[in-house]
Amino acid sequence: MFDKYEFVKEDMKKIDEFILANVKTNSPTIKKAIDDLVLSGGKRIRPLLVIAIARMGEYSEEKIIPIAASIEIMHMATLIHDDIIDDSKMRRGQKSVQSKYGKETAVFTGDFLFSQAFNLIADIISKENLKLIAKGVKAICEGEIEQFDNRYNLDLSIKKYLKRIYRKTALLFAISCESGASQAGLPKEMIRAMRHFGLEIGTAFQIVDDILDYEGVERVVGKPLGSDLLNGIYTLPLIYALKTDRKKVIKGILRKRDLSRRDVNCIIKEVKLSGGIDYAKELALKYVKKAVKYLEVIPDCEQKSLMMDIADDVLKRNH
Ligand code: IPE
Ligand code: IPE
Ligand code: MG
Ligand code: MG
Repeated sequence: MFDKYEFVKEDMKKIDEFILANVKTNSPTIKKAIDDLVLSGGKRIRPLLVIAIARMGEYSEEKIIPIAASIEIMHMATLIHDDIIDDSKMRRGQKSVQSKYGKETAVFTGDFLFSQAFNLIADIISKENLKLIAKGVKAICEGEIEQFDNRYNLDLSIKKYLKRIYRKTALLFAISCESGASQAGLPKEMIRAMRHFGLEIGTAFQIVDDILDYEGVERVVGKPLGSDLLNGIYTLPLIYALKTDRKKVIKGILRKRDLSRRDVNCIIKEVKLSGGIDYAKELALKYVKKAVKYLEVIPDCEQKSLMMDIADDVLKRNH
């Protein structure tokens, strides 16, 4: 979708090739599971950010492609593990690894990907960037654990929700931007600005993902909808609704815990009526606007307009 930028198509192809060539293992099951996930699509937004930013500085393909690919590999590992926790059957429009190969294989495949991702960059990137990426993975785990521990918690605040998505999503976006910038030798203030851009855009990205769970089209989104509610994961639209006069009805349904499809649809309707979706959309827009402000330090160029387009797409995306 960003193919109008000459370098994007070529670089993204190289990233996919690099991933496929470097996740070789003598376990045919793991190899097949990974190939399925890579070939079934995925938006590749994190590696795209690495490339877009790195191409504003001294672009060294030997370093940037492995970094971008490794970040995508780590992201894939988090998805595989996330689907185990959520018992989710679908990912990227195909059967999830856990539903096709079983939870055991999915655990090993995720672990394999995490370790291989570090293996691929250990010798070629700076120690600082390596540490940065390790910190990102740590934060994702902490965010996911905090979310798990707070399942069915009706008292979740917006502040706590934002802290959660900062850890589980925004930080990896920030790290994608920061590592691309610093590895390409951009000046300090640019590196800082790009990190902030990533944080803001990543926050908006997760808010939109959470909205899609309420009002997306399953066939387009490529993963089961209503799944957050079914798993007791309460996200921004619901957290907001629980502060309005719709809360009584919603709490009444949620008290059941084991929700039927009808219950889920009923909650979705109530959340919409409460203005929870509109509120979440407004907040996502605010974060994107904040993100775009950080692009002001960049002189007009192709990469800058690509980043503006990415920011715009975060709000418009339907999958
Ligand atoms: C899904 O990420 C998990 C979130 C952080 C919301 P993406 O929406 O980037 O998933 P793919 O890579 O495109 O499948
Ligand atoms: C992102 O959150 C998960 C990770 C950071 C691993 P979600 O739980 O919303 O992701 P999806 O919706 O399953 O893709
Ligand atoms: Mg999930
Ligand atoms: Mg989600």
